[in-house]
Amino acid sequence: MQTKMLAGQVAVVTGASSGLGVRFAKILSEAGASVALMARRTDRLDAVVAEIKAAGGQAVAIPLDVANAAAIGPALDEAQAALGPISILINNAGVAGEGRALDISIEDWDATFAVNTRGVFFAAREAAARMIASGVAEAGKARIVNIASIAGMNVLPGVPAYCASKAAVISITKSLSREWARKLIAVNALCPGFIETAINEEWFKTEGGKRQVQSFPRRRLMLDSDLDAVFMALCGPGANGMTGSVITIDDGQYV
Ligand SMILES: NC(=O)c1ccc[n+]([C@@H]2O[C@H](COP(=O)([O-])OP(=O)(O)OC[C@H]3O[C@@H](n4cnc5c(N)ncnc54)[C@H](OP(=O)(O)O)[C@@H]3O)[C@@H](O)[C@H]2O)c1
Repeated sequence: MQTKMLAGQVAVVTGASSGLGVRFAKILSEAGASVALMARRTDRLDAVVAEIKAAGGQAVAIPLDVANAAAIGPALDEAQAALGPISILINNAGVAGEGRALDISIEDWDATFAVNTRGVFFAAREAAARMIASGVAEAGKARIVNIASIAGMNVLPGVPAYCASKAAVISITKSLSREWARKLIAVNALCPGFIETAINEEWFKTEGGKRQVQSFPRRRLMLDSDLDAVFMALCGPGANGMTGSVITIDDGQYV
């Protein structure tokens, strides 16, 4: 039998209770990794863990609110105690941060950054410290994949906080990749285009949302599976010579 690409490795996926995070957790498991799924809605995490186990994989559900930065380290320790040393972190948890510039409250602005930006930075830092301490980094297997967005490079009308929070994720990706280059921790960012998930499904039911889809060159939304191949490359040997990269996969939506 052929050995799976990520056999023996341990991955953490934040925001694994819905949408892209569920997909990421499942394909990491299919590639042989043990997966710690983290988010606030533990009933949903438990359901995904059950699916992964039924398919023959190994997974645990760990409650985490990434806006509570102090809770991230203990959650990673729990993952390591259950599964072993973490080699892959997927910083995927995110919120829509809706609200036009004249309307958004200070609280909503801060809440958007607490999840989309601060959560990403501190999860990366806590994971990197553990990757270094366990020797996973020195072995060249440490991978951090930050899920940014095309919103980090383009202006999406009506969501300035979201766009700024994702632009900051791109900047953080580059800073961390530089700082940890000689530690051999690969830090890369993926910038997906629009994929229908809970974060935007209401919008795409509206006339405005339908018009937006018609404005895309291919007149369609993407599928979550469109990210699979590049995502997996960033998690495994495909990223051996790759750090600080920011990769757009958007079906040409923002060409
Ligand atoms: N869908 C798209 O078109 C698209 C495009 C580009 C980028 N993205 C990015 O992809 C990522 C995943 O989004 P999605 O489309 O899959 O949306 P989604 O279905 O709404 O999933 C968002 C996930 O983030 C988690 N989350 C939110 N706040 C959290 C918190 N405080 N602590 C921990 N987890 C939290 C949610 O879990 P709980 O609520 O259970 O905590 C959920 O699992 C986000 O970073 C998003 O910005 C999405």
